[in-house]
Amino acid sequence: MNGAMILADQLFSKMPFRDWLATVRPKVEGSILLDELCAGKDLDFFILMGSISGPIGNRSQSPYAAANTFMSGLIQGRRKRGLPGSIINPGQIVGVGYVSNADAWLLKHLESVVGCYHMSEQDLHELFAEGILAGRPDSGRNPEIIAGFRRASPADQPDILWYRNPKTWHFIDHFVDSSAQSGDASSGGKAARVPVKEQLAAAASADEVAAVVEAGFVAKLRGKLQMSDEAAVAGDDVPAELGVDSLIAVDLRAWFVKEVGVDMPVLKILGGSSIGQLAGEAAAKLLPALGQFASGGGKVQEPNGVKHVNGVKNVNGVMNGNGVKNGGD
Ligand SMILES: NC(=O)c1ccc[n+]([C@@H]2O[C@H](COP(=O)([O-])OP(=O)(O)OC[C@H]3O[C@@H](n4cnc5c(N)ncnc54)[C@H](OP(=O)(O)O)[C@@H]3O)[C@@H](O)[C@H]2O)c1
Repeated sequence: MNGAMILADQLFSKMPFRDWLATVRPKVEGSILLDELCAGKDLDFFILMGSISGPIGNRSQSPYAAANTFMSGLIQGRRKRGLPGSIINPGQIVGVGYVSNADAWLLKHLESVVGCYHMSEQDLHELFAEGILAGRPDSGRNPEIIAGFRRASPADQPDILWYRNPKTWHFIDHFVDSSAQSGDASSGGKAARVPVKEQLAAAASADEVAAVVEAGFVAKLRGKLQMSDEAAVAGDDVPAELGVDSLIAVDLRAWFVKEVGVDMPVLKILGGSSIGQLAGEAAAKLLPALGQFASGGGKVQEPNGVKHVNGVKNVNGVMNGNGVKNGGD
């Protein structure tokens, strides 16, 4: 059995090669060596410990996912050679092992992005037993066992990675309370967590508007890319170089529309502009709608016919006024 693991979670674009090797070698080289050492032996089982990160992937864990996927390939090779072998891919094991000492960020990530079921030590024993049974060459069972998906609702947990994989769609809970869904899918739920609109409404200068947009954009990027609060993200970082792909860019555009009130094209987000440039551009588009700032930084009289909330202009109304739809599509 191979249960070795080294983790050095980091975005692929920022990962030193030594960290890649450190993560991959115990699983890849360890499993190859074990396979070779067991050659000619009459085994009851040959079990490799993978992870749900293998079959579904996980941001910041590319070498870990790759190594677990390699182990699946090795197991398929053993099956083809008529040898016992299986890989068990648990989700989150509680009470024992790595996650039992994990920090709050990882626990939140597992909850909101990996979306896995909490497995007990007893569950792990049962998974191991299933691995023994499924690993027999004549078992007729799939030697790749995944355990740890749980039913999840996109309304409550919009960021779970495996929604994109059709093989997992039967775990999606479509039977959610429609009022709860509309509460989260609209700006309500997110605005409570990231109240960018309120901050914009309170901004006292053009510089402050740009700073609020940039800070909100960075927070959104961190969430979408699963970056910890400690990971450095600077205004001159380029989103695509941080790992933003077209799917994430679509979400980021929706964020600009809903939270900031300006449209930011997907191609612009994926282009070479830095975070600071994108935020600055959004702020520049927004300023005429927010009202004019006096040269000294204070607000001056706003145009007639502008609706106000709490003494400042209604951003939602501005969005429609600019021809940008609230839905972001
Ligand atoms: N914990 C979970 O929630 C979870 C979820 C999914 C999958 N898994 C899988 O379950 C397995 C065990 O995880 P865990 O939670 O028990 O991890 P852990 O507590 O971090 O233990 C990892 C073990 O791997 C050993 N190891 C690392 N590099 C090695 C190497 N090159 N050669 C030999 N041993 C090496 C470590 O030995 P030292 O202590 O001597 O360094 C340690 O005993 C891993 O394969 C992991 O991928 C765990």
